[in-house]
Amino acid sequence: MRDMKVLVIGSGGREHALVWKLKQSPRVSAVFCAPGNGGIAVDATCVPIKISEHDALIAFAKREGIGLTVVGPDDALAAGIVDRFEAEGLRIFGVNQSAARLESSKVFAKEFMLRHGIPTAASGQFSDPEKARAFAAAMKTPIVVKASGLALGKGVIIAETHAAADVAIREIMEERKFGDAGAEVVIEEFLDGEECSIHALVDGGSYLLFPSAQDHKRALDGDRGLNTGGMGTFSPADKVLPPALEQRVRTEVLDRFVAGLKADGLDFRGMLFPGLMVTADGPKVLEFNCRFGDPETQVLLTRLESDLLDLLDATIDRRLAGVAPKWSSEAAVCVIMASGGYPGAYSGGKEITGLADAKATVFHAGTKRDGGKFFSAGGRVLGVTALAPTLAEARARAYSAVDGIAFEGAQFRRDIGAKGL
Ligand code: AMP
Ligand code: GLY
Repeated sequence: MRDMKVLVIGSGGREHALVWKLKQSPRVSAVFCAPGNGGIAVDATCVPIKISEHDALIAFAKREGIGLTVVGPDDALAAGIVDRFEAEGLRIFGVNQSAARLESSKVFAKEFMLRHGIPTAASGQFSDPEKARAFAAAMKTPIVVKASGLALGKGVIIAETHAAADVAIREIMEERKFGDAGAEVVIEEFLDGEECSIHALVDGGSYLLFPSAQDHKRALDGDRGLNTGGMGTFSPADKVLPPALEQRVRTEVLDRFVAGLKADGLDFRGMLFPGLMVTADGPKVLEFNCRFGDPETQVLLTRLESDLLDLLDATIDRRLAGVAPKWSSEAAVCVIMASGGYPGAYSGGKEITGLADAKATVFHAGTKRDGGKFFSAGGRVLGVTALAPTLAEARARAYSAVDGIAFEGAQFRRDIGAKGL
């Protein structure tokens, strides 16, 4: 029966993909998004409530009779939005505040991994800058210095020299470049390899592994330039994670993760997205994210043939064991079109043309709609996503659509997916 109203919280390309997929559910009667963006407003009713306004979101969900709220961003989870909704008797998908520490505190995540034998970089953690410096001085370079708290993906510095590590420790811990996120640091060995994004729904006792994906974090072609939120993705990433390695991810990461939750008494129901480095010694966890990836969600949901609502319901109700969704055997590619200058300073308000004729699914990450026209309104603007029988064809389709879309200063990579060929 089509009688369920859903509310998606967030305003980026990931949230547009969640809205797009949930709208296709035969059980969903209406989709709302808070606050959403110009492109999301085509697929959902956007409500102007910020993700930090928990009271207003709760009041809206009650007034509108929302049957399920789905949380996109990590900061809402870390702020305890799930605990608040549940205390009000409202149904919500996402991890509670206690479980969200696996993403919001790198120290907490490291301790969890060590305690439960999950492979990760050797490291030390410090709240005293003197001790941090002494530890770094004894390490081989390059040295990875991470602010423990949430820092919009920017709190990781790869220091090529011991002097650079000292500077990073000073900036993070003493000058508080990332604010209180830098009260503690994790200092770890540099891992060499290919990165891979893993997504698994976890219901506390079981998990459901999604197909693999690969993100492109650097701003420029050939993995040069600054780190960004992600400039594009493709799925499957089976060249970096062939079946034998995927099996190791199951036994060494996910099985141990679920056993660790039980041992520690953590109630984790939601999406686990470990960022992996696939090294010569096998897969190692760089970080845990406790939410859908952005722009990984755009390619994963494009390949999901089953009803997403059923999977989210099964997670909340601890029924994941035995759930087997259908995935397209085709490949998906998402190319991010960003504002010129991103991830540094950029200006918005540029008119976007060519959207109506695009032969691809265009998820909006940062746009405004005004009188039927769309304008850029963010660093990442669009995620142009195509599905095709092979990765090469999916790339060709995505880039052909990108070439038909324009806005002043548009910046994108030409090599998304090239490594998977
Ligand atoms: P994180 O937020 O911990 O995922 O780190 C952000 C990015 O820094 C990762 O996506 C990697 O590209 C890089 N990185 C983090 N930790 C390491 C490490 N130990 N070795 C090499 N690269 C790393
Ligand atoms: N695409 C990386 C992330 O969502 O953190």
